[in-house]
Amino acid sequence: MTKNSRIPGFYKLSLTERRAALAERSGISVNDIVDALDTGGLDPKTADKVVENVLGVYGMPFGIALNVRVNGDDRIVPMVVEEPSVIAAASNAARMVRGSGGFHAEMVESLMTTQVQLFDVPDPEGARVRLVEAQEELLAIAAASVPNLVTRGGGPRSLEVRDLGNYMVIVHVHVDCQDAMGANLVNTIAEAIGPRCNELAGGKLGIRILTNLSDRRRVHVRCRALAGDLTMGRGGPQSTASGPASWAPEAGLEPTEVVDRIVEASRFAEIDPYRAATHNKGIMNGVDSVVIATGNDYRAVEAGAHAYAARSGRYLPLATWRREGDSLVGELEMPLALGIVGGTLRIHPAARLALKILDVKTADELALIAASVGLASNLAALRALATEGIQRGHMSLHARSVAIAAGALGGEVEEVAARISSIGTVSLDVAKSVLDELRAI
Ligand code: MEV
Repeated sequence: MTKNSRIPGFYKLSLTERRAALAERSGISVNDIVDALDTGGLDPKTADKVVENVLGVYGMPFGIALNVRVNGDDRIVPMVVEEPSVIAAASNAARMVRGSGGFHAEMVESLMTTQVQLFDVPDPEGARVRLVEAQEELLAIAAASVPNLVTRGGGPRSLEVRDLGNYMVIVHVHVDCQDAMGANLVNTIAEAIGPRCNELAGGKLGIRILTNLSDRRRVHVRCRALAGDLTMGRGGPQSTASGPASWAPEAGLEPTEVVDRIVEASRFAEIDPYRAATHNKGIMNGVDSVVIATGNDYRAVEAGAHAYAARSGRYLPLATWRREGDSLVGELEMPLALGIVGGTLRIHPAARLALKILDVKTADELALIAASVGLASNLAALRALATEGIQRGHMSLHARSVAIAAGALGGEVEEVAARISSIGTVSLDVAKSVLDELRAI
């Protein structure tokens, strides 16, 4: 089925109506959506088989980002996140770049890397030479340890030897894990070749484990927004409005000034690690939400992203923005080791639903989409920061939570939030008295 990821007014629908709209677009039945999500995505009995000492399950909101187009294909993107406005932000920014073709993404390479540590190696250079000479033999041992992966067309591809000094030599094996994230596969390989590596090195065999700095499994994404398209949407802390398109005239900026300010915000991150950390956090808002929704290991992704950001010895932004004529062009590059088979996916109904909604056929496709949503989140955050600032939207969302905490129900929530925001005191006491007044009318 040809999908269109634009569903105007989606945010205004009720939960039931949203499920029906998604069912219509995706071809997934409403029953399947309800079954996967109504137990919080995972029932306690299944959770008990996943980890230890289980008491129950812990719910997180499961939403969808709209307007996303990657390499010409529209994608409805499930996101699991507790932070308000992240999903709306990604959807809104995806809409801004849609007119210029959306996101153009590619895997730079798609290989997982595993490490074998050899220490107390008396002659590191001799060991390095012997290990390199034995690479065919070592790769054969590696391949024999993962026969099913080899049958599926994957397997070890190359070997690299690094002398770290201090009589320590490290062997890397680069492995095509196909549609698995591959942690177990590459750990198996490292353990299988370890003893032979050590015979060749003549030292002691140390630890054998994957590296999460999976820089041979990298995504590159590029997008363009015309200056005029940056003025879509308003409200929400990350300029995110899920609401109707309109420009925020109070910011008093011409569209090309918005482009220049976003470029300045990017340059700030490029020269200051304090800013780069926050800039990258905004990217990970999008990436992690997709990673979690699809049952992938977000700690692995985070570790890889930040290690990659610091690869030059200085912590740098994963995405940068430049002006080209009257447009803003963004580029993101980061390691992204994701899977669509195995692990949690086998048993997690909501993760399986997420993959169905995404309609991805390969792990690479999933990585391209997750990275695109990361770039969208970054654009949304920078646009908000470069124009009206982040707090206005944050305060109105905060006011809504305070209104709910004060006991407001249904339509009262917006009313109480609006009143306490305009009074300028967003506190529980004020919200309670505003709610009492409202109910007394
Ligand atoms: C908040 O979750 C993310 C931002 O701080 C990102 C940024 O500053 O670029 C808004």
